[in-house]
Amino acid sequence: MGWGRPNGAADVGWPTGGGQTGGGQTGAANGDRTVGSEPGSVDTGMGCRMRSAMLVLGIETSCDETGAAVVTEDGHVLSDVVQSQIKIHAPYGGVVPELASRDHMKNVRPVIEGALSRARVTLRDLDGISVTARPGLSGALLVGVQVARGLAWSIGRPLVGVDHLVGHLVAVYLRHPDIAAPAPPHPPFVALLASGGHTAVYRVDGLELSRITELGATRDDAAGEAFDKVAKLLGLGYPGGPIIDQLAREGDPRAIELALPMPRRDSLEFSFSGLKSNVARWVSANGRPGNDQTLRNLCAAFQTRVVDTLVSKAVRAARREKVQELVLAGGVAANRQLRERAAEVGAGHGIRVVVPPFRSCTDNAAMIAYAGAVRLAQGEDDRGRLETHPRTALLRVTRKGRGRR
Ligand code: KG4
Ligand code: ZN
Repeated sequence: MGWGRPNGAADVGWPTGGGQTGGGQTGAANGDRTVGSEPGSVDTGMGCRMRSAMLVLGIETSCDETGAAVVTEDGHVLSDVVQSQIKIHAPYGGVVPELASRDHMKNVRPVIEGALSRARVTLRDLDGISVTARPGLSGALLVGVQVARGLAWSIGRPLVGVDHLVGHLVAVYLRHPDIAAPAPPHPPFVALLASGGHTAVYRVDGLELSRITELGATRDDAAGEAFDKVAKLLGLGYPGGPIIDQLAREGDPRAIELALPMPRRDSLEFSFSGLKSNVARWVSANGRPGNDQTLRNLCAAFQTRVVDTLVSKAVRAARREKVQELVLAGGVAANRQLRERAAEVGAGHGIRVVVPPFRSCTDNAAMIAYAGAVRLAQGEDDRGRLETHPRTALLRVTRKGRGRR
């Protein structure tokens, strides 16, 4: 079967002779998130486009979302399509790598076509392509990188591989036409990146990889991973973050005693596996709560410990670095309590907390396009030497495992 175009999609100039397998009929429609205005171009309405800014196609396949987006070099999002794999992985309570790769293979082309057609551009209108090259699941990363490589060669435009974590850190600069965005931060600032695979605080002196410095990271589980594991323990489903976030709203965090993770005042490192074990012990002593107030209280107690830890360390880092802005990034930054508490504590110390809109927090290709635009604008091109890697390229100072906290 060939790669069909999503129903109704415009001709986006896809090179002929593509040999991938998998149906294109699902299109980019399921769970996609799309915008349509075009700050980077003027549409004359006669099929003639007057371009004013560099256009970058971003491709994201590092984990369980297939994403493609068209973004201008100044961060305006022309389209942002995300095809989620949540339904595929939910029965397993976590991401199954082989299933992830297969689903990326099936959807990457219709998702890219969807992003191009919704941005009303063709491949030939692009000035460059940006793809997540690390960190992530090896097989999943390869799907995006191989497609990106083929497209870049076919249209004769540069290709850059970007680090997914850098994407999260620059997501705060994206501008969606339909969503209010906070005033952009000015480096240097401190960023808390809390996602399903990573949790760390960084000093950001510029948007290039070399200007981002880790100040402290998790020794074990990432914050999002802790949400997912606790939700699994409580039989709540996957991903756990949004479900616990919802339940915790009506819970009393003081009703159940749980220890605060890694409380040492001078440390910027995190540890969430002890808190998860704490919840597991509570469940084995008291039984798994039903869908009642006890469940909400347990969720609130757990979430409050995670949020308090993230906020206190992030604000401590900002104060230590003497910066005035703290940026929240990553899927966990979608957490309502985290957003509110960080703003409150930050304000108490004269720190502006910059929180991207929800859709910029969780995985998306717009952030990958923008991180790539920074590199493309400097004339970089990885076409000849782009490799995938399971780990981030950001220098890590925190060692995993036990040790003095
Ligand atoms: O950034 P992301 O989409 O993917 C990774 O790069 O990992 O983050 C996904 C993680 C999941 O662990 C999910 O449970 C968590 O972000 N998450 C949340 C919320 N929404 C997503 N955690 C807490 N509260 C939320 N509202
Ligand atoms: Zn992510």
